[in-house]
Amino acid sequence: MKTPSPAIAERAAQLRSLLQAAGYAYYVLDNPTMEDAVYDQLYRELQTIESEHPELVTPDSPTQRVGDQPAEQFFSLRHAIPLYSLENAFGIEEFARWQERWQKLVPETTVVEYTCELKIDGAALALTYENGLLVSGLTRGDGITGEDITQNLRTIRSIPLRLSLESPPSIVEIRGEAFLPLAEFERLNQEREKSGEALLANPRNAAAGTLRQLNPQVVAQRRLKFFAYTLYLPNFPTPPSSQSESLEWLHQAGFLVNPNRKICHSLEAVEAYFQHWEVQRQNLPYLTDGVVVKLNDYQLQTELGSTQKFPRWAIALKYPAEEAPTIVKTIIVNVGRTGAVTPMAIMEPVQLAGTVVQRATLHNRDRIQQLDIRTGDTVIIRKAGEIIPEVLRVLPELRPQDSKIFVMPTQCPECDSGLVQPAGEAVVRCVNSSCPAILRGSLIHWASRDALDIRGLGEKIAVLLLDNGLVHSIADLYQLETKRIAELERMGNKSAEKLLNQIEQTKSQPWSRVLYGLGIRHIGSANAKLLADNFPSVAQLSQASCVSLASVYGIGPEIAESVVNWFRISANQALIERLQSAGLQLSSEVKTASESQLAGKTFVLTGTLPTLSRSEAKALIEANGGKVTSSVSTKTDYVVVGESAGSKLAKAEKFGLKLLDEVQFINLCNTL
Ligand code: IVH
Repeated sequence: MKTPSPAIAERAAQLRSLLQAAGYAYYVLDNPTMEDAVYDQLYRELQTIESEHPELVTPDSPTQRVGDQPAEQFFSLRHAIPLYSLENAFGIEEFARWQERWQKLVPETTVVEYTCELKIDGAALALTYENGLLVSGLTRGDGITGEDITQNLRTIRSIPLRLSLESPPSIVEIRGEAFLPLAEFERLNQEREKSGEALLANPRNAAAGTLRQLNPQVVAQRRLKFFAYTLYLPNFPTPPSSQSESLEWLHQAGFLVNPNRKICHSLEAVEAYFQHWEVQRQNLPYLTDGVVVKLNDYQLQTELGSTQKFPRWAIALKYPAEEAPTIVKTIIVNVGRTGAVTPMAIMEPVQLAGTVVQRATLHNRDRIQQLDIRTGDTVIIRKAGEIIPEVLRVLPELRPQDSKIFVMPTQCPECDSGLVQPAGEAVVRCVNSSCPAILRGSLIHWASRDALDIRGLGEKIAVLLLDNGLVHSIADLYQLETKRIAELERMGNKSAEKLLNQIEQTKSQPWSRVLYGLGIRHIGSANAKLLADNFPSVAQLSQASCVSLASVYGIGPEIAESVVNWFRISANQALIERLQSAGLQLSSEVKTASESQLAGKTFVLTGTLPTLSRSEAKALIEANGGKVTSSVSTKTDYVVVGESAGSKLAKAEKFGLKLLDEVQFINLCNTL
């Protein structure tokens, strides 16, 4: 291989920046500056130079978007800053109540300034750029950890590989929404129809599914786009001071920023914006499901902080869910893994918000009575929160003569034991812990992806194991023998061994997953992680009181009570013992608070942090064993510095203390 001459190196650099500019004009500005054929030819020229002189390839070269190595799997990573979700308001009245709420918290604020943005219906992403280069991109996941899909994101042309800034920040995190344009969705489905492949249900699922494709080539063919809407710029000398300035910054840095945003100064202006886009969204080339209203000023955002789940400074004002009429064929009841008995309507299949729906929840007996729903009725269904369809109302005018009133069973349809309705609850439950429905649900949950991740144990196999009496409890999975499984219908030695192998591997899954797998009420995977971080062994967790559980940042009293109640039940204690002797990880290597990095460390907080309020930062330190003091001394271990930090910062610098910005601070807590 010969060394490239300076002229070739120069030509490569020129081609790269010309093609980058042309790509930006095409994909971000939607204003092509170059004929396709010209672009292609210059692109090929660059490719040729790069293949002859690989040392000239740069990571931001337009030729480096699509890697050719499919990934084997994605890795979960913790977000530097958690991705909050947004509180929903359905209608302007709910919005008005939200406005009243935040105004009460900051009574001195008299001027209202909102940034209104379209709520893009896609998948949220968090991108990190170091010194201007894209280094990683994560899915939202559960908000705390997401999957590293950097290779896939590199194929999205509206995500710059390098920020177009003269002096880029050393580090910046950018968030936004990846989405599939409607035309692209149609085109893909037409192609799939021709080749006999299953059709993609709707653009949102298609976008999320595409991002998780293992092969970046497939992702590149799907032509996703990305709108940027959030910016975290730690350590930057002149950071934006408002959401609108951030959006401008993002635009300057080369991102596609949705142009249909507006600053509004009153509830009426927000309402007008919302109503305008409720109609006009029909003409947009992508799906939106509402508008997002954010307080523009960052100082105010910081002052308001967040609840456990949502920022207090933003809200999603959603369009009414889509509705459709259909006919109820029958009403059945479903027993879930918690024993909750839920009546469900089985209906004539109907198209709703892009998917075919034929089941809807009727919630509980009271709801059925309220609706007066009968089999044969024509009903209006809608997707509540866009996921689980529900029956909204009945059209009594269309009721047939032979319609039947539904009577809620008093006996469990699966195990025949008497159902109970706990006082004050609308839910009817089966409380027989060996009810096959509860066992089936628990087993499927145990094997699910975010729990112990036993790929070969889906609903069918779970039913097979239960029906043949091989399993009566989760713990029985660890006593299965190849021979017995191999005898089951459509199994065989090979599949039996494979299944046992997968079950064996769950023994190396971390304590947080085991905890999630137990299926304790209110313990989703995010809460399980929080609890496992703070109670590093089952012994500690099972002994914990409601008060100590609820003192964990993010754990409320209801969750705490649920944990305490669960460990009180002797069958659950027996289950834990069996899982322990089977060799599952019921504790973690994680250091306990007393030996953690923060234990005994003294912190001082100064200035306003970009996302955490002062009390949240304090809670985080204390939950990890550290202490917060108000004044800086030589004994202070860390000073967490936000914007407009004053004399404390000067003093800390004088003493040569360790300074942390928010990202470094959160990382420090996360290394626990
Ligand atoms: S801001 C802490 N702005 O809506 C606030 N979100 O329902 C973070 N979304 O998870 C979100 N368009 O995926 C924001 N203009 C927009 C958005 C937007 C769509 C999504 C986002 C978020 C979800 C919440």
